[in-house]
Amino acid sequence: MPATARKIDFGHGNQRAELPLLEPTLGPPMIDTRRLREETGCWAYDPSFGETGACRSAITYVDGDEGVLLYRGYPIDQLVERCDYLDVCWLLLNGDLPSAAQKAKFTDDITHHTMVNEQLHAIYRGFRRDSHPMAVMCGVVGALAAFYHDSLDIFDPRHRLIASHRLIAKMPTIAAMAYKYSLGQPFIYPRNDLGYAENFLHMLFAVPCEPYRAPAAAVRALEALLIIQADHEQNASTSAMRLVGSTRANPYAATAAAIAALWGPLHGGANEAVLQTLAEIGSVERIPEMLRRAKDKDDPFRLSGFGHRVYKSYDPRAKVLRPLCSELLAALGKEDPLLTLAMELERIALEDPYFVERKLYPNVDFYSGIIFRALGLPPAMFTPVFAVARTVGWVAHWNEMMTDPETRIVRPRQLYVGPEERPVVAVEKRREHAPLVG
Ligand code: CMC
Repeated sequence: MPATARKIDFGHGNQRAELPLLEPTLGPPMIDTRRLREETGCWAYDPSFGETGACRSAITYVDGDEGVLLYRGYPIDQLVERCDYLDVCWLLLNGDLPSAAQKAKFTDDITHHTMVNEQLHAIYRGFRRDSHPMAVMCGVVGALAAFYHDSLDIFDPRHRLIASHRLIAKMPTIAAMAYKYSLGQPFIYPRNDLGYAENFLHMLFAVPCEPYRAPAAAVRALEALLIIQADHEQNASTSAMRLVGSTRANPYAATAAAIAALWGPLHGGANEAVLQTLAEIGSVERIPEMLRRAKDKDDPFRLSGFGHRVYKSYDPRAKVLRPLCSELLAALGKEDPLLTLAMELERIALEDPYFVERKLYPNVDFYSGIIFRALGLPPAMFTPVFAVARTVGWVAHWNEMMTDPETRIVRPRQLYVGPEERPVVAVEKRREHAPLVG
């Protein structure tokens, strides 16, 4: 990709500066501000990075206005229809879909890394049974670094590959173990004769005392969910992965940070929050009241599963998941009143001027919760499954970052608004003032 196509003028007071314009393959060009201070004496201020590109990336493209999501150029709906999750993992990691031989080798590599060190079981036992599984996952994934001293050289491509495979392969095992631990059931070992999604369901739902076979519709739905959630360019958790990775911390530590970022209710934790919101609404009659609350600036309540920093049109992931909910429920012979409620909530919200003007549409988390519920998972397990799916995205971005010559430690600037320099006074001469914290 050519980096410098043309230059633009940049005005600040009487100063003018010429800054290079970077042309992407898709999307608007970016002003390269790396020489901004040198040229203008100013830094750029963009506290939530809403207008700022933090890196070059060739992995995922999102067009929020048009509702487009491409992994390495391939539309998300086609990937869901024509590929399985391991195809998509290879695609995200390696740039294109695998050949049959590459797929077979990759499947073998991932399958043979699914077990965790037996010693790791002891770490689970240190947690309370009622711990949130995301808390367990942050701890256990961070602890993986203590088990793999043999492959922690982040500058060795072979070590990076092994760590990437380990993370993708072990995350379902780790998430399923967190679930089993919360239930007080024995851990279920992975089965290497099953595909990635089916094995995950097996580890989540099998018990040693009877045979278990995941319903085919459940396997297909989970496969679709995993694909849909596999990557989403520079979202908060991927940015956390890149930020921690930029310090040259090991990939397990960086992934633990990404899991922590995903946990928040504004990010991956929204899928759990959506179910709580739907349960709180309870009936179609109460929708107007809850919408009123969501619109009230004095009320902290927000409609979880609605709105997105980037999508200002229907989230293409929600578009795929919406029909999948009904298909899965029908195939499992289940009914879920929350799906009816969700669809009615969507209909009413999308006619409401507040949501229309702000371009607030259902996002991926709005319908994923219904699928998780149909699969038989409790709300606390929704975000851990999201973490399993997103691990390949985190790992692909970490690998991309590690081989990018432009990578430096991430270290933003700040607009300092504190006191000017002042002398320290003796304690008996200090005045009482209101604490800022607490
Ligand atoms: N309910 C009510 N009002 C909302 C909502 C919502 N869910 N989302 C945004 N708004 C309003 C917001 O109050 C603001 O109004 P105003 O202009 O009058 O101040 C306007 O819409 C723009 O919102 P914003 O907060 O400036 O948007 P943002 O880009 O900073 O936040 C968001 C994006 C996803 C955090 C936000 O839409 C939100 O909190 N949604 C609910 C949580 C959620 O579903 N998160 C999952 C996102 S998708 C999956 C993922 O990232 O993992």
